[in-house]
Amino acid sequence: MIKPSITSSAPGKLMLLGEHAVVYGHPCIVTAVDQRIQVSVRKNGVDVFHMDAPDLGLTAYSKTICDLGKKELPKGVRFVELLYRRFLDQYPQKEGIVVTTKSDFADTFGFGSSSAVTVAFAKALTTLYNLNLTNKQLFDLCYQAVLDVQGVGSGFDLAAAIWGGTLYYIPPAKVVTKLKVNHLPLVVGYTGIKADTPTLVRMVAGLKDTKPRLITSIFKNINHLVEAAVVSINQSDWTGLGDLFNQNQQLLKQLGVSSTELDRLIQSSLKAGSAGAKLSGAGGGDCMIATYQYDQSKSHIESAITAVGGQVMPVVLNAPGVRVE
Ligand code: MEV
Repeated sequence: MIKPSITSSAPGKLMLLGEHAVVYGHPCIVTAVDQRIQVSVRKNGVDVFHMDAPDLGLTAYSKTICDLGKKELPKGVRFVELLYRRFLDQYPQKEGIVVTTKSDFADTFGFGSSSAVTVAFAKALTTLYNLNLTNKQLFDLCYQAVLDVQGVGSGFDLAAAIWGGTLYYIPPAKVVTKLKVNHLPLVVGYTGIKADTPTLVRMVAGLKDTKPRLITSIFKNINHLVEAAVVSINQSDWTGLGDLFNQNQQLLKQLGVSSTELDRLIQSSLKAGSAGAKLSGAGGGDCMIATYQYDQSKSHIESAITAVGGQVMPVVLNAPGVRVE
């Protein structure tokens, strides 16, 4: 007999301001993106972990519980398997589970499919075992697993997937405050190049070792911009936010994380009338964001991004956080 399953879903994320500095304890602002990953979990009566995640390039994967985390793990299973191992350390079980996933989005765009799958899985798993975890407890479980997999990261993407909306975030979920947002007038453009976040984070860490004073002062300036952006967003002052985007982009360029493609899309948006544009995330590729004032200026900016080889991503921002379906 097939046992009952729990399904939960979590959204992706888009960094608005504060990337890189957030890794060193400074705040950032992130919004949840309406592209979701659904994860279903059920007990299977045997001591085996089984996962089917065709969207993540994984089918019919299985492992005995005592071997969890051992040997080289395929990319699609890493976060889920290591989270499950962490979960079993805290709540030991003899019986294994079957995990299946369904995704609205590809992991190429940098919208955080890893954080969304981690959070959706953690929510479904803890609900299956009737553990009524708070958002912070859910965060802590997920954050441990993310550090197990990639060793670095501020956890801002997990917070977006858990709390949803648009957040002012200080790592690791020391402060998570929802901003007053109904609508974020932003265009999102994809460069066509996949960014490698851990490599870029390590590159900035190297820079911080060699030029500690310069990098510390850049992070402090980013911190000020984030604080100012909270005021702009709460007041729906999109021109003010655009100005802060431009200043944040200059500081990210000083960190060396922008790229020719990102700069091209950003410059093109500004020429088309955006008040401000910047890269979003680790840099090196993935997406940029640009503010717009009116629907007409939005389409000008979108055309300008496409004209220089970018791809406009039709995403809805400020999306709800994790939920049991
Ligand atoms: C990557 O999207 C954002 C970074 O700040 C890394 C992190 O916060 O984990 C570069």
